[in-house]
Amino acid sequence: MPAVSASAPGKIILFGEHAVVYGQPAIAVPVTSVSIKVVVQAAPLQPAGMISIESPPVGLNTTRKNLPDHHPLKKLFDLLEDTLGISHLPAMKIRITSTLPAGAGMGSSAAVSVATIRAISRFLGIPLQNEQINQIAYEVEKVYHGTPSGIDNTVITYQMPIYFVRQVPPQIIPLKTPLTLVIANSGEGASTGEMVAGVRQRWQENPQRYEQIFSRIGSIVNSAKKLLENGEWRQLAPLMNENHRLLQEMGVSSPSLDRLVNAALECGALGAKLTGGGGGGNIIALVEPDQVELISQKLSQMGAVQTWVTTLSSRVEDDQP
Ligand code: MEV
Repeated sequence: MPAVSASAPGKIILFGEHAVVYGQPAIAVPVTSVSIKVVVQAAPLQPAGMISIESPPVGLNTTRKNLPDHHPLKKLFDLLEDTLGISHLPAMKIRITSTLPAGAGMGSSAAVSVATIRAISRFLGIPLQNEQINQIAYEVEKVYHGTPSGIDNTVITYQMPIYFVRQVPPQIIPLKTPLTLVIANSGEGASTGEMVAGVRQRWQENPQRYEQIFSRIGSIVNSAKKLLENGEWRQLAPLMNENHRLLQEMGVSSPSLDRLVNAALECGALGAKLTGGGGGGNIIALVEPDQVELISQKLSQMGAVQTWVTTLSSRVEDDQP
């Protein structure tokens, strides 16, 4: 049986992270210049049912049986068997490789799940629908992150710009005109689960203040959706800046994220904000296409360990490293 592979892209949240956990809308887009690739091969010489798993980027080299009980991949295999209606996955070798930085707010955990589910189901000749893939990936995200909203697995499964509200089917957003973003990695990793748990604790201590922040972010997201649909992309800039200020108030920014946001604005970005769980990870800056080089260079000088340029359009086709 030939090897079968599947890839899943990274993602960024344009507007609405954290508030989306509390029922507010958010907007996310796939980033196809970074991805997770999973290759599945038959393993006729392995004992029946033995699944060996190799993931060099995270130093994983093990088997399904030897995974700790609460490992996300263990959950994924169990759910996959339920969904496919088979009692035991057959012996196979799984290799997971990545160009997607972990802990950087780009959805690496969801991308591992989506690519693994797709690759195994294709390998078995029982390809799953997006809804089924998304559902399994969401359950696995709960193992990684505690109380995720489901936005990461959804945008990565559908690979389209989405307007997302928790527990509601996602709406695909048609982008009227392309928009250009510089993404910059602060080099500081942070656990999304811990950032979400921190917001939850502060929300419990001060519900009124946090509800106000969440609902203002929800209004920003709804305004941004209209602007995207109408092609008024430059007007997104002040909304990004305000969303960043609200994320600062929520306590999820960091000195290095703020430094990168300020550097981007000082050298001509129209708007900038952190993206994803925060505490580290990435910022995004909305830029005029002819400013890409200048702003990317400035962000590198100010400590970004990596930058990407992504041109978003409805088909998200023009990513460059
Ligand atoms: C993480 O990419 C986005 C958060 O809003 C968490 C979530 O929605 O699950 C921080």
